[in-house]
Amino acid sequence: MLVTTLGRMCGIIGYVGASSAEDVVLAGLRRMEYRGYDSAGIALVTADGLAIAKKAGKLANLEKVLADQPLPPATTGVGHTRWATHGPPVDRNAHPHISDDGKVAVVHNGIIENFAALRSELERQGVELSSDTDTEVVAHLLAGAYDSSTEPATDRFAAAMRAVCLRLEGAFTLVAIHTDHPGQVVGARRNSPLVAGIGEGAGEYFLGSDVSAFIAHTRDALELGQDQVVTLDVEHGIAVTDLAGTSLQPRRFHVDWSAAAAEKGGYPWFMLKEIDEQPAAIADTLRGRLADTGQIVLDEVRLSDEDLRDIDKVFIVACGTSNHAAMVSKYAIEHWTRLPCEVELASEFRYRDPVLDRSTLVIAISQSGETMDTLMALRHAKDQRARVLAICNTNGSTIPRESDAVLYTRAGPEVAVASTKAFLAQLAACYLVALYLAQARGTKYADEIATIVAQLNKLPDAVAETLGRMDQVRAIGRELAKEPTILFVGRHVGYPVALEGALKLKELAYIHAEGFAAGELKHGYISLIEQGTPVVAVVPARGRNSVHSKVISNIQEIRARGAKTIVIAADGDDEVAPYADHLIHVPKTPTLLAPVLTTIPMQVLACEIADTRGLDVDQPRNLAKSVTVE
Ligand code: F6R
Repeated sequence: MLVTTLGRMCGIIGYVGASSAEDVVLAGLRRMEYRGYDSAGIALVTADGLAIAKKAGKLANLEKVLADQPLPPATTGVGHTRWATHGPPVDRNAHPHISDDGKVAVVHNGIIENFAALRSELERQGVELSSDTDTEVVAHLLAGAYDSSTEPATDRFAAAMRAVCLRLEGAFTLVAIHTDHPGQVVGARRNSPLVAGIGEGAGEYFLGSDVSAFIAHTRDALELGQDQVVTLDVEHGIAVTDLAGTSLQPRRFHVDWSAAAAEKGGYPWFMLKEIDEQPAAIADTLRGRLADTGQIVLDEVRLSDEDLRDIDKVFIVACGTSNHAAMVSKYAIEHWTRLPCEVELASEFRYRDPVLDRSTLVIAISQSGETMDTLMALRHAKDQRARVLAICNTNGSTIPRESDAVLYTRAGPEVAVASTKAFLAQLAACYLVALYLAQARGTKYADEIATIVAQLNKLPDAVAETLGRMDQVRAIGRELAKEPTILFVGRHVGYPVALEGALKLKELAYIHAEGFAAGELKHGYISLIEQGTPVVAVVPARGRNSVHSKVISNIQEIRARGAKTIVIAADGDDEVAPYADHLIHVPKTPTLLAPVLTTIPMQVLACEIADTRGLDVDQPRNLAKSVTVE
């Protein structure tokens, strides 16, 4: 028998209220589909017991099933959209899973590490399991732990959930319904995300993997912590306890995203909309944090200036695109603060035993705030007594909650799986943190900071201007759509931009792409270049200590070997024109800030190539937005 752990990073929603649970749950799943799209399912508590529909593939497949066979009316339900790591994404493995007595339906995100032992135990008791998943075990355990004599009756199902959670090892978010409690949804979390929403009308509550699950209905939410169990009850409201049953008061927060921000708004792809939202993402991230006096104001950073003066080393940990933001910020932090700064892939960080102590500042950058690798790196840093500052886009998520301080990027909800506006907002936040450190440590005078602040304030307009010039890039994208390989090169802060360009292209267009430090070409990579190989090169601004002329030499070298060169350079820089098959100009901006602009053509290029190849730009194969497993 194939035994797999399925459903690891997924979108989960639970609803109780007065509206049609089917409508609310499906709409929530639509907004969370970016979290996984291998299968989708829904379960409702109806007058005749549980009603369930589930289907492998994208949510559209489930919607078709429901259009053909509508479920009976119900006002309590759960839903799930799944990203699988192992095993076939077939109907029987889709969530929700049902207990053998037919009373409990459960959806799950995470991995139950001891599920094999639990499964054997259930099989010995004669329970027949009908899927290959770890999740189904939980449904049967919940039915087994349910005790109809528990008082008060309103706590009965939650008590079963607590008892089951105590037996589970691993990471999980669970959301479940029970036919004996038609007005209740019960959830629990350990190391996987879950937030609760408080509806505007009386007796309406939500659970979601993130706030986008219920943003169309409410922007008031509760943070749920580690090993907590939450009961949504249409009559009695929300109750949260720890696993011992002690009642807890979760922190309430208000989401400043609008529901419209999580919709496509007339664009064919979320990614295109999010690319266009970048001027606002940067402006919102900077707003209120740059005083006219040149002082940087970071209210949410709860580290004293004394703490900051104690710091003698900075590590930045992050994954994927966020790691590229980290690489850019290393240049700014070292240049502006003179503090040594290392950038680490979060997935590698704790396994190499980094040297950390109370004087180390660890900055964790994460759009979702749930990336397991980054969370584990952060916990490792805290265990070593380092101070941790999070740069995060998602209010109420785990990484900022577990950090000593947080600076939120205000990019708004990012739905396309490939990160764009969150990246630019991360860059803006990183510059703020670097200046803040420089200010607190006195490595920059106020007037120097004021000059950089003035340059930062010009970025939203410069981003808008860059976006207005992208027709040329789209045409290049169409020209390159059939290429088997595209290379990206840059130096200094242009190097992480090249890595980001290559990552965007790989993940969206499934084209082999590599990003290099241009200076490394001659150490091996240049042998990849054949007649006509497209190479995208980022030219830095001219200036003191600039590598401008070096990059131009590198471009000449690759052109001499037959490369087709697509060059991104600042306005007025035409020195490279003789060596560029295509020359893309972006507004002139200081070297350290340039990635905010030079990344944009990379994003547009990848998007256009993927679209021309007929691919799903928002939901590339095999990926999920929020990577909640290691
Ligand atoms: C690429 C992309 C990923 C994420 C990475 C980290 O377009 O989106 O590489 O950047 O999975 O995610 P967060 O920032 O949520 O920790």
